[in-house]
This record gives sequence, C-alpha cells and structure tokens, in this order.
Amino acid sequence: MGDAVPPYTSPYPPERPVHETLAIIGCGHIGQALLTGLLAATSDQPDRSAGKITRFIATTRGEATAEMLGQQYNKESDRVIIYTSENNLLAIRESGTVILACRPGDLDGILNTDGIRFKLSRKLVISKRVCGEPSTDPTVVRAAPNLAAGWKCSMTIIENREPLPEDRLAMVTWIFERVEQVKFLFGDAFCAGAMLASGGPAVMSVAVSGMFDGCVEGGLTQAETIAIGHQMLIGLVAPLNCPHHLLHMRESAASCPKAPTIKTLNKLEKQGVRGLFADAMVEGIECVP
Ligand SMILES: NC(=O)c1ccc[n+]([C@@H]2O[C@H](COP(=O)([O-])OP(=O)(O)OC[C@H]3O[C@@H](n4cnc5c(N)ncnc54)[C@H](OP(=O)(O)O)[C@@H]3O)[C@@H](O)[C@H]2O)c1
Repeated sequence: MGDAVPPYTSPYPPERPVHETLAIIGCGHIGQALLTGLLAATSDQPDRSAGKITRFIATTRGEATAEMLGQQYNKESDRVIIYTSENNLLAIRESGTVILACRPGDLDGILNTDGIRFKLSRKLVISKRVCGEPSTDPTVVRAAPNLAAGWKCSMTIIENREPLPEDRLAMVTWIFERVEQVKFLFGDAFCAGAMLASGGPAVMSVAVSGMFDGCVEGGLTQAETIAIGHQMLIGLVAPLNCPHHLLHMRESAASCPKAPTIKTLNKLEKQGVRGLFADAMVEGIECVP
C-alpha cells in the first residue's frame, strides 16, 4: 500500500467534477463496448452535463491501442480522454468511479503499481474479478456486462452484497442501465449469471455459426443465411420470457414424422450436444474469477 503519490500533473484541465468522471482502466473489447454504449446513451441528453457521468477516461497498455482509441472517439474529444498505462494513477485520481476492464492476468500488475491501491480505496471500483477483500470492502463492486453494451443491449450481472452504500449502488445501477438491463445476484448465482451474461454470446456464436455454415453448404449464400438467420433468431428470442417456450419449440418440431427438423435434432442428441453445452457452461462458471 505504498503512498508515493506524485504531485497532480494532469495535462488536461479538469472540465468536470471528479465524481462525474468514469475511468475505464484497460479499454479493450469490453471497455470499448461500455464506452461506446455509454457515450451513445448519454449523447442525446439535452445537456450532456445532466447525467451522473459526464466525462470518460480510458487507458490502455500500449501507444498503438491508445492512438486507435483516439481516432475511434475523435468526435467525443470534449468528454473522452485517452491515456496509456503510465497514466493509470492519473486516470484514477481524476475519476470518482473506476471500471477495471483489463484481463484478469493483467489486474495484479495494475493493482501492484505504486499508489494505485491507495487511490482506488477512495473510489467506487467496478471489477469482474475479485480484487482486495470484496466481502469487507464497500468500495468494490463486481459486475459482468457483455459486448452488447456497445449497442445498448447488454445484460449486466452485479454482485448483490452488503454493505454497499446507497449512493454507490445508485451509481453502479445508473452506469449499467445506460447500456440496458441489470440483475443483482449473489454467490454461486452471481458466477452462473456472469457466465451466462458475459460469456453466453460467445458460446451461442458457436452454435449459430455452425448452423449458418451448414446452410451455406446446403445452398444458401452467406448474405441470405445471415438475413434469414437474423430474423429466425429474433423469432426465437422474442417470447423467451414465456415459461416452457424453448421446450414448446423443440417438442412441436420433434412431433412431425420424417420431417427434416427431427432428423437434425436426433443427430445433435446422439452427439450429446445439449449435454456438452451444459457441461461447458458448468466448467466456465467454475472459472468465473
Ligand atoms: N471480450 C468479451 O466478450 C468479454 C465480455 C464480458 C467480460 N469480459 C471480461 O473483460 C475483461 C477484459 O476482456 P477483453 O476481452 O476486453 O480484453 P482485451 O480486449 O484484451 O482488453 C484488455 C485491455 O487492457 C489493456 N491493458 C493491459 N494492461 C494494461 C495496463 N497495465 N494498464 C492499462 N491498460 C492495460 C490492454 O491494452 P493494449 O491493447 O494496449 O494491450 C487492452 O486494451 C476480462 O476479464 C473478460 O473476461 C470480456
């Protein structure tokens, strides 16, 4: 917990109060999805200063990623600042809320940099991975969004645990509700929910891309496959909240003698694909950090 904090040397005049600034430390895939979604969600406010967060700081390890982000968010330069990792401490110092969006393997290196833990202890910290003593530390909140945050369709699982002060709870909820839905879970349910929400899209993409490949092999063009598949998935997903919807879908298709769908389903069942998906999810859930 070294507190060798250098004097304040921001190259940017602070345009917004610290409590209205959000730092995303490690702005890769998920960080960019969040940043893009949050910018889009707050851009149509009549006054951009009306939201809880009005300024964003994103950091990356390398200069090349920082430059790429600079170009990507060029039009938002009045409210987005990009730093490289040597300015992580500065980014945290200038922010009231910090999202640690780096890979788990990079987290310790960031946390063990001089002054970082001390600075974070005074902020609201949001991280997918446990860092520090989360059961006793009221400043750390675990949250698992997904890449759909980039188009404001995320499902974010937030760890529901005491004691999280009201103002912090309100801030976390506000941030992730900008990019769509949030659900609070605890313990094993948090891990399972985080796996489904964060990892589910990638897992689903295996099944969907396999189905699409089969259709291209069967005679559709790729463009036709995507257009048909897109609408087919909307039809599957729209009533998903109804109980037994998936069971009904499967049973109605499987009840038709000699139909192509029952042949396809039987092929998958014989290979144990359903059980394989279930086992794979269990393994993923056990690894949620
Ligand atoms: N990808 C997904 O679909 C997804 C979905 C939900 C949750 N997550 C979770 O989000 C986390 C990050 O995954 P990701 O896919 O976004 O990884 P990623 O694309 O590799 O992004 C990690 C970012 O961290 C930066 N970084 C590394 N060391 C740093 C340091 N010392 N200081 C500042 N920045 C640093 C990297 O910068 P450089 O690019 O310059 O190296 C990179 O931009 C993981 O825990 C993952 O499980 C991912």
